[in-house]
Amino acid sequence: MKIIVTGGAGFIGGNFVHYMLKKYNDYKIICLDKLTYAGNLETLAPVMENKNFKFVKGDIADREFVYNLFEEEKPDIIVNFAAESHVDRSIEDPGIFLQTNVIGTGVLLDACKKYGIKRYHQVSTDEVYGDLPLDRPDLFFTESTPLHTSSPYSASKASADLLVQAYHRTFKLPITISRCSNNYGPYHFPEKLIPLMIANALNDKQLPVYGKGENVRDWLYVEDHCRAIDMIIHNGRVGEVYNIGGHNERTNLEVVKTIIKELGKSEDLIKYVTDRPGHDMRYAIDPTKIKEELGWEPETLFDEGIKKTIKWYLDNKEWWTNIINGEYQNYYKKMYENK
Ligand code: NAD
Ligand code: DAU
Repeated sequence: MKIIVTGGAGFIGGNFVHYMLKKYNDYKIICLDKLTYAGNLETLAPVMENKNFKFVKGDIADREFVYNLFEEEKPDIIVNFAAESHVDRSIEDPGIFLQTNVIGTGVLLDACKKYGIKRYHQVSTDEVYGDLPLDRPDLFFTESTPLHTSSPYSASKASADLLVQAYHRTFKLPITISRCSNNYGPYHFPEKLIPLMIANALNDKQLPVYGKGENVRDWLYVEDHCRAIDMIIHNGRVGEVYNIGGHNERTNLEVVKTIIKELGKSEDLIKYVTDRPGHDMRYAIDPTKIKEELGWEPETLFDEGIKKTIKWYLDNKEWWTNIINGEYQNYYKKMYENK
């Protein structure tokens, strides 16, 4: 089996590459990644010498490049993680989100149609469903919840999902889509809540909590996400959407206070800052379908996963300090200085 993993130098794609190479010693994994600010070859360093792995630098929206790669490699499966993934950046500058997340997905689908494929899997997000109110804990996203997006990021991901479904209906492309809740774990870029709070707390910097910190996210340890995608590409029904999440809801403030406690820091580091425009209140996944059809369940609960994650950041300081000592400083200034 030959799998092209797009966006494999990023957080979840990188974890997926590690997971698949460890699990299947007869699969060839090709990582196609543009190496944007979020792509990091350090994440792939442990597998660069693996004979079953190959890294290719390129843009999923570059049609000629993608067609050449398909012609040369004749992949069986595509798992598309490549995306602009940060909501705050999409509010600052939406254009690149449309280019990569929508046009890029369209190019990959065309390549699959032209060269033939056993499976195209689109890694989507629960954000395509919009949000749930805080005062209705009985409500969850199911696969039939209507798409109702809030940010340019989520709108671009929903657009891509619609395109993927259209290629299934019209061209009979064998696709699947997964919509996952918030991931956390090793190799998470420190612009996102959990790694940002860990890095700032370790450096005794302020911890910027948007609004009142009451927004709720449904946290999933990244390896559980990888295992779910593995199950879907092998046993998921073609044409179907699978929600992935494991009832690990926490308010942002709970998450930040847990990190502070684990690191033995003071809650005085918390700084309440201007809220994110259009900020989604609550995400919560109903994972019944993937549980009943594929037998997937999360293995790592939040209290254990956050400890493992903090330990990883303590043990791998070089990975994230290299990031925050670079261009990231300009980003941080721009996004947080006047909040
Ligand atoms: P990330 O930002 O850490 O990584 C994205 C990767 O894609 C980077 O390596 C980047 O270089 C690459 N990339 C960007 N544009 C590209 C292009 N045009 N061509 C080729 N490569 C390109 O993202 P992530 O958090 O790992 O998310 C991966 C996927 O999972 C995304 O599609 C995201 O929407 C989805 N997702 C993320 C989460 C989460 O909590 N992080 C949850 C659900 C779904
Ligand atoms: O739900 C899945 C989505 O989860 C993915 O599709 C996205 O790619 C991923 O980035 C993530 O989106 P969120 O917007 O939920 O994640 P983020 O880490 O940016 O923020 C989590 C919550 O924390 C959110 O309510 C905003 C808040 N926050 C975030 C940052 C960066 C803060 O309070 N302060 C911060 O500095």
